[in-house]
Amino acid sequence: MMNPVIYVTRKIPEEVLQPYQNMFNFRMWDKEDVPVPRDVLLKEAATADGVLCLLTENIDREFFDYAKNLKIVANMAVGFDNIDVEAAREHGVVVTNTPDVLTETTADLTFALLMATARRIVEAADYIREDKWQYWAPYLLAGSDVHGKTIGIVGMGRIGEAVARRARGFGMSILYHNRSRQEKAEQELGAVYSDFTDLLQKADFVVSLVPLTEQTAKMFDRDAFNNMKSSAIFINVSRGGTVDEEALYDALAANEIQAAGLDVFANEPISSEHQLLELDNVVCLPHIGSASEATRTKMLELCLDNLKAVLNGEEAITPVK
Ligand code: GLV
Repeated sequence: MMNPVIYVTRKIPEEVLQPYQNMFNFRMWDKEDVPVPRDVLLKEAATADGVLCLLTENIDREFFDYAKNLKIVANMAVGFDNIDVEAAREHGVVVTNTPDVLTETTADLTFALLMATARRIVEAADYIREDKWQYWAPYLLAGSDVHGKTIGIVGMGRIGEAVARRARGFGMSILYHNRSRQEKAEQELGAVYSDFTDLLQKADFVVSLVPLTEQTAKMFDRDAFNNMKSSAIFINVSRGGTVDEEALYDALAANEIQAAGLDVFANEPISSEHQLLELDNVVCLPHIGSASEATRTKMLELCLDNLKAVLNGEEAITPVK
């Protein structure tokens, strides 16, 4: 019998594919940094039994209409707003994501971004590169403390909990907002459930970790920024679509909030021309939340293990429900 055909939508290291070579017939887009063009994706999907894709691919109803043999789409991300899960279900295709393996790495980045924004790390490093450092001065590049402050975590899933653990180590008070109460986080981390507005009004750091859905789209809007303290720092490591970027720009430009640290944007990639980059009180990163070498490899391996399970007729390991 022929091995199942797997289409991989980006060039990934041979060593990662190697253990699966004897069970799959791999086809792969040949560029590491450039997404597969839509027409190539649809053509390849038409003959694939499984697809390993990234968050750069729009896996919509049209894709599923082309993909006649497809049994599984393994998305190399925990978020899956790039996939029409309803269309997948109607076409009998299993969708999987990569939870757990990226939790701690993404929480590390969230905290790094929070600290970099509060303590103006990027601005300070640039200060030397731009030869601006002449003298030490009492308030030179003085930022905000992190320890002892209140963090408000919006979206208390696995990553939210991992961020809360880090916050606890910094002696922070922890507020959270979530669709459902997280009793474990309340008991073990002292996290306090809060309604959205209350959290915005009380938190020194507002951290968005909510998945992008119809309910969370642009939930950080003008009202949300108005409700925050003028000293608040907003951190987004979930999806850019949860934020009204115009409203965020206006709030930052008018000093209605103090600063923002952003790993994600409504339309990625952004360039240096993006309006938010006009502002000094913003730290922008190119969507690197889970980007440690070890974690990115684990994410790929989890995709491959999901493909293996489903194409062997077993349950997916991490199906999207
Ligand atoms: C990255 O953004 C992910 O969803 O894993």
